[in-house]
Amino acid sequence: MKLKTLKEAKIKKGMRVLVRADFNEPISGGKVSDDFRIKTTLPTIKYLLKKGVKIILISHLGRPGGKIDPTLSLAPVAKRLSRLLKNEVRLVRDPWKFDFLSKSNFSKHRPIFLLENIRFWPEEEKGDLRFAGKFSSLGDFYINDAFGASHRAHASISGIPKYLPHAAGFLLEKEVKSLEKLLHHQARPFFVILGGAKASTKVELVRKYLKEADGVLAGGAIGNTILAAHGFEIGKSLADRIGKRELKKYIDISSLKLFSPLDAVVSDKVSANALSKVVHMGLIRKGEYIVDIGPETGRFFAKVLRPAKTILWNGPMGVIEIEKFSHGTLNFVKAMKKIKAYKVTGGGDTIAFLQKHRLMNAFDHVSTGGGAMMEFLAGKKLPGIEVLKK
Ligand code: 3PG
Repeated sequence: MKLKTLKEAKIKKGMRVLVRADFNEPISGGKVSDDFRIKTTLPTIKYLLKKGVKIILISHLGRPGGKIDPTLSLAPVAKRLSRLLKNEVRLVRDPWKFDFLSKSNFSKHRPIFLLENIRFWPEEEKGDLRFAGKFSSLGDFYINDAFGASHRAHASISGIPKYLPHAAGFLLEKEVKSLEKLLHHQARPFFVILGGAKASTKVELVRKYLKEADGVLAGGAIGNTILAAHGFEIGKSLADRIGKRELKKYIDISSLKLFSPLDAVVSDKVSANALSKVVHMGLIRKGEYIVDIGPETGRFFAKVLRPAKTILWNGPMGVIEIEKFSHGTLNFVKAMKKIKAYKVTGGGDTIAFLQKHRLMNAFDHVSTGGGAMMEFLAGKKLPGIEVLKK
């Protein structure tokens, strides 16, 4: 895919450059608790600093729904960025209230501003072009480095570049190159592992990869959905309750390429202090929750994956936010690490998990996008990328 790149962009000293980044990071106790997305945007910011431009960063955080929500302020991100760049990054709460671009505010020593959460404005998610036009007046050039949000046709993603000369930032360019390798040049056998809490979005992916890949391993809510379709009791576990018949219209649940859990960790509550036990499929009770894959499933999945030359992993196998229900995913990732294949994963929760366990190096590419990565790999056109094409 031919994108206009930052290296090709005619960016001149003194220009005002709008950079759309994806700083949608987990915040806890008013601090950024994982800064992977921030760090992956630094090469673009540092390059622009060297060019001597004025940088105006734009990002969203969470889903405030077009209203000001102080808990979703980008203030903690501005703080972390300042520390990482050793340069003050000031938060602009309202770019229309004062002339933050004036000479006295914007100096050689203070060349970076971060606008407050763009989703505080209701027009952003509507993709409002007048709103995009207004924001475009703050810059002379637009860079998209927000791969994780490029599947959204939002004003700051696909609107602003309609008004300004534009290019893809280094992160966006790297994401597209790495994912294209998986999309078009996969070495076989190619295996896909799907998990996570949302089953409905995964049904389509199971269907797609049963056709295109050599195997699909399902855990988490989509695993539960398939188990239920096979007639197993899954208790109160997360699943898409579309029913066996409906699901069978979409996917061949008996396919020899489809692998689902053999055992599970179950619990009567999804909480850290709940009692839990390992049971085989067929022994789960009505009131119980599946909270992780069991050890036998872990070994089985690892064995199935062994011959893989390409692996795509999307979504944890259990409730990884709770330490004791994260062992299945953790052991599985450790097993994946040993396999010599081109391995790709992504998404906010997965990144935080891998960082916590120092397992980022188990993968060749960790995408900053969750939804964006899966849409890109599904061959969909991402509005934020389409608009940057030559
Ligand atoms: C993400 O976390 O996947 C991106 O930042 C996009 O966020 P969204 O799903 O709220 O649009």
